Amino acid sequence: MTDLVLSLDVTERASALRIARACAEDVDAIKVGYPLVLGAGLGIARDLADLGIPLIADFKVADIPNTNTLICDQVFAAGFSAVIAQAFPGPDSVVACVESAHTHGGECYVVAEMSHPGALTFFSEGVPEAICRLVVETGADGIIAPATRPARIRALRDLIGERKILSPGVGAQGGDPAEVAPLVDGMIVGRAIYGAADPAAAARVYAPYRR
Ligand code: C5P
Repeated sequence: MTDLVLSLDVTERASALRIARACAEDVDAIKVGYPLVLGAGLGIARDLADLGIPLIADFKVADIPNTNTLICDQVFAAGFSAVIAQAFPGPDSVVACVESAHTHGGECYVVAEMSHPGALTFFSEGVPEAICRLVVETGADGIIAPATRPARIRALRDLIGERKILSPGVGAQGGDPAEVAPLVDGMIVGRAIYGAADPAAAARVYAPYRR
């Protein structure tokens, strides 16, 4: 029903490679963010990409267009196949990420709404809906929407047409895979897999929900 995206938020190269190798058959993509890149260096991307698993850069890119272009060009040169951007700097900043992604044959996802409780402070009152309109206007490939609030995923799905939804919040944050999997294109799971004694077995828990 959905892809399983491992959010690999460990900070040591050896742990990252051990977990990624163990889970390689049981996940469809790996999401790498600041914790791992700051801990292990950007070269970890090439090491992980060499395993043949698509890599998503969760850098929530949020700068002026020129800087976004410079960041995204480095992301794709490092071996990533997708990047996650923030929408709040505006459409020109998002377009910079989308153009870099598409130039490199990759994808750009935009955060529409976050999954933690405090996210509602600013991601409320029509803001995620406006972000979805921006996603359509800018040609971005999809959105990040919260597995912790399935009703919101349904509402935002109506606004983005055929574009994809990647959804964090299953597992440690309490999102229910059975409810979320039919609604999204990718279910993002971090601690519930990489924090398990047997990460591969933990990843296989989600096998019934994979397409
Ligand atoms: O460990 P857990 O499964 O909660 O990891 C979720 C991952 O998704 C983390 O890397 C977190 O930064 C990221 N994320 C999120 N909510 C968003 C966007 C990204 O939880 N809206």
